[in-house]
Amino acid sequence: MSGGAPSRGFVVEHYPEVASTNDLARQRAERGAEEGLVILADRQVAGRGRHGRAWDSPLGNLYASVLLRPRAPLASSATLSLVAALAVIEALDPFVGDRSRLRAKWPNDVLLDGNKTAGVLLEGADDGRGNTAWLVIGIGVNVARAPEALARGTTSVQAATGVAVTPRTVLDRLLDGLAHRYADWGERGFTALRAAWLARAHGVGSAVTLRLGDEAIQGRFADLGEDGSLLLENELGCLTRYTAGELFFG
Ligand code: BTN
Repeated sequence: MSGGAPSRGFVVEHYPEVASTNDLARQRAERGAEEGLVILADRQVAGRGRHGRAWDSPLGNLYASVLLRPRAPLASSATLSLVAALAVIEALDPFVGDRSRLRAKWPNDVLLDGNKTAGVLLEGADDGRGNTAWLVIGIGVNVARAPEALARGTTSVQAATGVAVTPRTVLDRLLDGLAHRYADWGERGFTALRAAWLARAHGVGSAVTLRLGDEAIQGRFADLGEDGSLLLENELGCLTRYTAGELFFG
């Protein structure tokens, strides 16, 4: 492990290889590590994605987990996954150039030219008194490689733009942006960031299918709730709010 100088309130611990940066960050959180710890790894041998999937983690991509301790209920803290996805988009903007190519896919994927290039895995615990004890924001960005296991519908920054950038450069930009966005979130809540997320969102107004367990719910992606939920409109014009699920377009 090599250490990183504290900057922007974050302290980066850099490992050549870990099982999962989220697992390590979680262990550190449970042992009392302070907010701002970032676990960065060059590769993961047991990287995890959402919905219990594996996250293929070859060398060349970014694998990082940020420990936060928001003074908020865990349900509100969950909106930080959208904030993290927005911060990833903004960190990648200069390498991609055309902002319209980078989009947020609800709840917390990042698409580049319509293909997944980053994902966020949020894990946290309640302190038993209604507040967040700890929150780990795990961020995976396909910087140099689109993992083969996920090849369909995925891309990397390098594949899509021809730009070669290091994971550390992306992380430094990401932490800068996240620090600002997190400060705003702390002062004014997710409401303050909702418009910024919507401005970069993929498919608002489109017909979608939301997979929730065994259920497939169809509707129109009408809006994003103040709490980061997905608002789906059915054929009768009724809106229903969803806080979880996997979204499919078309
Ligand atoms: C997704 O399914 O889209 C979320 C993927 C999150 C992957 C990142 S890589 C760093 C951190 N450590 C993990 O094991 N997972 C997250």
